[in-house]
Amino acid sequence: MEKQDHVHVAILPLPAVGHVNSMLNLAELLGHAGIKITFLNTEHYYDRVIRHSSDAFSRYMQIPGFQFKTLTDGLPRDHPRTPDKFPELVDSLNCATPPLLKEMVSDSKSPVNCIITDGYMSRAIDAAREVGVSIIYFRTISACAFWSFHCIPDIIDAGELPIKGTEDMDRLITTVPGMEGFLRCRDLPSFCRVNDPMDPHLLLFARETRLSAHADGLILNTFEDLEGPILSQIRNHSCPNIYSIGPLNAHLKVRIPEKTYSSSSLWKIDRSCMAWLDKQPKQSVIYVSFGSIAVMSRDQLIEFYYGLVHSKKNFLWVIRPDLISGKDGENQIPEELLEATKERGCIAGWVPQEEVLAHSAVGGFLTHCGWNSTLESIVAGMPMICWPSFADQQINSRFVGEVWKLGLDIKDLCDRNIVEKTVNDLMVERKEEFMESADRMANLAKKSVNKGGSSYCNLDRLVNDIKMMSS
Ligand code: UDX
Repeated sequence: MEKQDHVHVAILPLPAVGHVNSMLNLAELLGHAGIKITFLNTEHYYDRVIRHSSDAFSRYMQIPGFQFKTLTDGLPRDHPRTPDKFPELVDSLNCATPPLLKEMVSDSKSPVNCIITDGYMSRAIDAAREVGVSIIYFRTISACAFWSFHCIPDIIDAGELPIKGTEDMDRLITTVPGMEGFLRCRDLPSFCRVNDPMDPHLLLFARETRLSAHADGLILNTFEDLEGPILSQIRNHSCPNIYSIGPLNAHLKVRIPEKTYSSSSLWKIDRSCMAWLDKQPKQSVIYVSFGSIAVMSRDQLIEFYYGLVHSKKNFLWVIRPDLISGKDGENQIPEELLEATKERGCIAGWVPQEEVLAHSAVGGFLTHCGWNSTLESIVAGMPMICWPSFADQQINSRFVGEVWKLGLDIKDLCDRNIVEKTVNDLMVERKEEFMESADRMANLAKKSVNKGGSSYCNLDRLVNDIKMMSS
């Protein structure tokens, strides 16, 4: 990729670990292609995460022209920025950011000439149009999730939403092109589980997704061999100009071979699990993590705990300090489970996930199906058990289980017997079948990011388009 020092891109993610880490991966790729990057974080996210992850962030400062900048999210300091308050955060950011973006474009020393924002920042389009710069959206979710969000108004118009109670959850949805025949109500994004089709969460996701079509392009962290048919639907009906450049974690290793694993997090990485893994036999461990935001009740945790212990498999489990909702925690874990953990388990607050998934001792991943975790698992060739929590995770897990055949989807079930059986199905009974399909998809993922692959070519096209848009 040719160097052009004058191209300056502002990148603005939503302030959440999964979003920021994906955007940082993108920023690093663009920075290495000679583009000057200003990476924007909200003051709240910067104070809470970035200040404490200086190791993870220092390497970005080595990239010529790379700088971090903070901005206000417009909310009071003590506002609870929890997932249930997501619409307030999005609305507030949408009001607070356009003036800053416009200011950056008119800067006399180093004006920004292209804006890349999270797909939820629909008002950034108006700001970009007003000052005459290009804007590209980056949605950090899967193409299948994006497409289902986009189709929500059609699903409502067809009378297929709202869902009429738990007995209605297995009804098939027929109005999402490309997903007929396997998409059930329970696989729709979690915010569809409401009685009111005018629910603000539901409308927000649908509105922001539909507005993506107005940008100059849409970046997705996915690859053609994984989501080709759904990408075609989006190209034909929403955004013709899609840059599918994922999996970004694998892509980075191709473009920047000296890159090491690292990501920002709210918690200190506990590396001691790697020494524990070194002592375990090949493919004997089930790795368990529910991502950076999802919470579970103590009862649910106990069901999983018994299921894992009864499965007789070794387990490495990420139990974040805030994973259990409510105050009652560890001290109420039955003694027999704690004893079994000493024998066969390792519990950590936060682990180097990509390294864990690449470790030869790991043979399965019990995951919440956040998109980054799903892609990291695909790249590592690791079969999955999916227990989605919220948002896009419900549809990701349907694709993992039903479409890509990369694992088993146990959404909406939380029962020790099911956990025990599923772990054994994945790692013993049907091990070969799942290992084979996971291996096949891992190879396709690698092919896509290697020279000449679809994601590799799409990234080159993105870099060239940014340079063209900025000239
Ligand atoms: C959120 C949403 O929950 C998800 O549905 C959406 O796709 C993106 O935003 P999150 O819970 O953060 O995602 O999950 P995910 O997207 O999987 O990202 C988690 C990241 O944390 C992964 O990159 C993973 O490698 C990392 N991680 C997780 C660690 O580094 N260590 C851990 O111990 C656990």
